[in-house]
Amino acid sequence: MKRDIISVADMKEDFTDIIELALKLKRGRYDSYEDAKNRVLALIFEKPSTRTRVSFEVAMRQLGGHSIYLNPNDLQMGRGETISDTAKVLSRFVDVIAYRAFENANVRELALNASVPVINALDNVEHPVQMLADFMTVLERKGRLKGLKLVYIGDGNNVANSLMMAGAVSGVNVTIATPKGYEPKDEFVSKARSLSTSAKIEISNDPSVAVTEADVVYTDVWISMGEEKEKEKKEKAFSGFQITPALMRKASPTAMFLHCLPAHRGLEVSAEVIDGGQSFVFDEAENRLHTEKALLLKLLKF
Ligand code: CP
Ligand code: NVA
Repeated sequence: MKRDIISVADMKEDFTDIIELALKLKRGRYDSYEDAKNRVLALIFEKPSTRTRVSFEVAMRQLGGHSIYLNPNDLQMGRGETISDTAKVLSRFVDVIAYRAFENANVRELALNASVPVINALDNVEHPVQMLADFMTVLERKGRLKGLKLVYIGDGNNVANSLMMAGAVSGVNVTIATPKGYEPKDEFVSKARSLSTSAKIEISNDPSVAVTEADVVYTDVWISMGEEKEKEKKEKAFSGFQITPALMRKASPTAMFLHCLPAHRGLEVSAEVIDGGQSFVFDEAENRLHTEKALLLKLLKF
């Protein structure tokens, strides 16, 4: 049976196994694999991307397969062909589809109608593949995941939702600190808590309290793709939520800083922090490649 990755919850059973496989693949970088050889990945991207697109394309290539990048405007989908028909047709040609969409419902619709695996490459609700790279980077540096404290300071967005769920499935305690009114929706907090047997998932409006003794400090853009109209209002609401050296000093002295990127220095993070010694954002970006290879091998297994 085919397997879709729409949410971190779809990796509940093997989230850390995929990361372990990625660590192995990182060492043997250019090995090709029978399961991926000559297989084809279609990438449908409704929004821009540097990391997700390039890492998926390079991943397929290094595994011995191919990829096809499709902008919806190049597809008949952009002229009204249904997602369902697109899913059925693409399934006759390709072996796996990654979809970056504005609407989570559209990713689900594609998955429901495709007979090949569908991967959510970011939507308005989650960014599940990003989590594999993030938690791999933590595991590489800290040697463990269980019992660590990750504090996310910023917008209660797609990345925040996925971080809560990834913490839950890997035993990492996650605190999300947002300005009032920008907390993650209750349904995603509850979903994360329902996945966890041990990890604590907490919501706060006070970054200085939340960050105390954090092992990992994480942030993301304040204005996600598609929210450009809210720029002025959000930048005002988020002042005081920038990750600064002073805030980092309240975390554990060995805390690492992560950001899924792209970053905006001077807004969600100061240049000193993101370009400083506690930042591992470029390892994190590199790990997108290794984790996507691991995920593709799992999904393409004959
Ligand atoms: N982090 C991330 O998904 O980056 P891109 O938007 O460049 O793919
Ligand atoms: N929250 C951001 C993540 C970008 C990788 C967005 O959705 O634009």
